[in-house]
Amino acid sequence: RPILILNGPNLNLLGTRQPEIYGATTLADIRVLCEERAAALGLAIDFRQSNHEGELVTWIQEARHGHGAIILNAAAYTHTSVAILDALLACEKPVIEVHLSNIHRREDFRRHSYVSAAAVGMICGFGALGYALALEAVAGQPGVRS
Ligand code: DQA
Repeated sequence: RPILILNGPNLNLLGTRQPEIYGATTLADIRVLCEERAAALGLAIDFRQSNHEGELVTWIQEARHGHGAIILNAAAYTHTSVAILDALLACEKPVIEVHLSNIHRREDFRRHSYVSAAAVGMICGFGALGYALALEAVAGQPGVRS
């Protein structure tokens, strides 16, 4: 089953959005990087982005039967969304949380993540490389290759 790689609000603007924080890499670049790393690991991916909380919730619900694991950069919803946390808990799939920036060296409100309570682990601060590291982590999770 493919790995669902979910990207939350404003990540469609990567490349032009606060480049001093997020760099020049676009979401299309990150998708290519993920496709390459997944292929090397023998995994298939399903790479998506939404600015809508409810759409992310619906996709997480569908992953219960359609996907092997979830890599999630919930962006600002990381810090606000009990709905996304609940969907992740109901999904019963391994979740790896990713952030491009180091959320612990920015504003205080970014230090709390609702997603972390449902995640196997969290990778932050390494930019797009974090997605590749998350794929490495996912590959070792039980059930992902079956
Ligand atoms: C982010 C960090 C969040 O605090 C922020 O709202 C984002 C992106 C990151 O990838 O560094 O939109 O998730």
